[in-house]
Amino acid sequence: MCGIIGYCGGRAARPLLLDGLKRLEYRGYDSAGLAVADGGRLNVVRAVGKVSDLEKKGIERPLPGHCGIAHTRWATHGRPSEANAHPHLDCRERVAVVHNGIIENYLELKQELQAKGHAFRSETDSEVVAHLIEECFAGDLEKAVRLAVLRLEGTFGLAVMHADAPEQVVAARRGSPIILGLGEGEFFAASDANALLPYTQKVISLNDDEMAVLSPGGYHIKNLNDEFLQKEIEIREGRGEEADKKGFEHYMLKEIFEQPEAIENACRGRLLESEGVSKLGGLEPVLERLKNLKRLVIVSCGTSYYAGLCGRYIFESLCELHVEVEVASEFRYRRLKLDADTAVLALSQSGETADTLAAIREAKRKGALILGVVNVVGSAIAQVTDAGVYNHAGPEFGVASTKIYTSQLVVLTLMALLIGRYQGLSFTEGSAVIQALKRLPRQVKGILTDIEHIKDIAQRYARYQDFLFIGRQHNYPTAMEGALKLKEISYIHAEGYPAGEMKHGPISLIDAEFPTVAIVTQDATADKMLSNIQEIKARNGRVLAVASQGDGRITEVCDDVIRVPETLPILQPVLNIVPLQLFAYFIARSKGRDIDKPRNLAKSVTVE
Ligand code: F6R
Repeated sequence: MCGIIGYCGGRAARPLLLDGLKRLEYRGYDSAGLAVADGGRLNVVRAVGKVSDLEKKGIERPLPGHCGIAHTRWATHGRPSEANAHPHLDCRERVAVVHNGIIENYLELKQELQAKGHAFRSETDSEVVAHLIEECFAGDLEKAVRLAVLRLEGTFGLAVMHADAPEQVVAARRGSPIILGLGEGEFFAASDANALLPYTQKVISLNDDEMAVLSPGGYHIKNLNDEFLQKEIEIREGRGEEADKKGFEHYMLKEIFEQPEAIENACRGRLLESEGVSKLGGLEPVLERLKNLKRLVIVSCGTSYYAGLCGRYIFESLCELHVEVEVASEFRYRRLKLDADTAVLALSQSGETADTLAAIREAKRKGALILGVVNVVGSAIAQVTDAGVYNHAGPEFGVASTKIYTSQLVVLTLMALLIGRYQGLSFTEGSAVIQALKRLPRQVKGILTDIEHIKDIAQRYARYQDFLFIGRQHNYPTAMEGALKLKEISYIHAEGYPAGEMKHGPISLIDAEFPTVAIVTQDATADKMLSNIQEIKARNGRVLAVASQGDGRITEVCDDVIRVPETLPILQPVLNIVPLQLFAYFIARSKGRDIDKPRNLAKSVTVE
């Protein structure tokens, strides 16, 4: 969703801000803007559309200013327009504010400020912050931001400038990330480390209710009680070179091809073959509680939710646990009893998803152990959990998640293996899981070599308007995830269903123009799947099957078949989703869609 970058240093700010914004584009946005200190005033430019549209504006003269703030906006309050784009200004155009998050009490504050004579120009909640700072400003920007922030309810990551303090950027956070980048004589503030990494690997993550003041000469951090804080400097790996597409046409395709490596990285140093168990350093502090765990509630959204649904089968198969999976945005409406024998596990690629964050905060209040599987190191969800495991899959830039999904399935298997070995799983069973995990990268590579065949099939199916995806047991979530991939990047209607449910309703849709994708790899449900496919064929429906390499029967009944290798049933979804990712990708490509940045979607969904 929205992205922030701020800069204070010796170089011209504008090109650095634009470069930072480009590195935040993958998060999804609809407008962008920047403010640069410019000879006693603030030079502000905003544009609807892409950062390249912003780049074209305001280039009549080079801006000398070397301090500035910039933003990509994903509309929440008010449609995408120049007036609603950030930075927002106060009445006298002396204060500029960029904001991520939602100010929940903005209407109340707006009325109060309007009564004092403030004139608003946008429909956003964010503009209220600029006017509030104007109201609180008496020559000291840091103090004005602190006083204003104390009045805000909701979530915010903020970067603020004032024309009277042209060499300062003030940043603050509550619930929406702000990361500081520390260079040589130059300092950055950003909502996402990807925007900073080409310039510095030295970063500091602000916690909630902390503020930072940056200037070319240095920085300091305080809490909202105006007390100085000493915070640890982290060294982040990489220089943001992952942001290069490395010759692939889209990030999504690159990330599909990175899956063998992402699976290896998830397992690296975590397989204890001699003991038939996994070793997860991040869970060691809570190992005693995990040994006696009775119940696991998995909370997540979207693709991560489907990984959670697969996780239920994985944990049920390897552990003695009662497992529930809940869409995070619905979690708070349940009247769940959560006790010390229950763990709530948040699955999140970004670690920022507001619904998932709210769910685990609620679970924490009720006394459950909070675990996380997160890809982004140091993200908000990682900070709230009691213990957890990182995916180490590298950044994912394609909005449609691919490599993190399969990495999540692998990490869930590692967690289940660890807990299962305390709960009755034998050494032999544990060893079989380890061997299967070790084979996965090679098996995924094998599927990726079938790309031309999958592309050919996708091109033949691209003309249809609607799709049904069906699967049973472990492959029921695969059907849901396959359908989600197709709809989000191609804008084609697709539904994922447990195959047994088909005859309870969706079968009425089947005709020659409504194809079905059946995930029918060899397992205990394969015969029942074949019967479901026959039911579709009897109604003239076209069927594309994802089937096991050795299955001879399938070609008899289906119109098209994509083959995948066999593994343990709990890991089969890791392999089965790969051709469906490619299928969605090539259909979207043949339709000329904006695959890495599909309309209306954001990479990190930071609003509830
Ligand atoms: C779809 C997709 C989303 C995310 C969801 C949760 O391809 O990526 O459905 O899975 O928004 O995001 P995270 O995993 O960051 O919590």
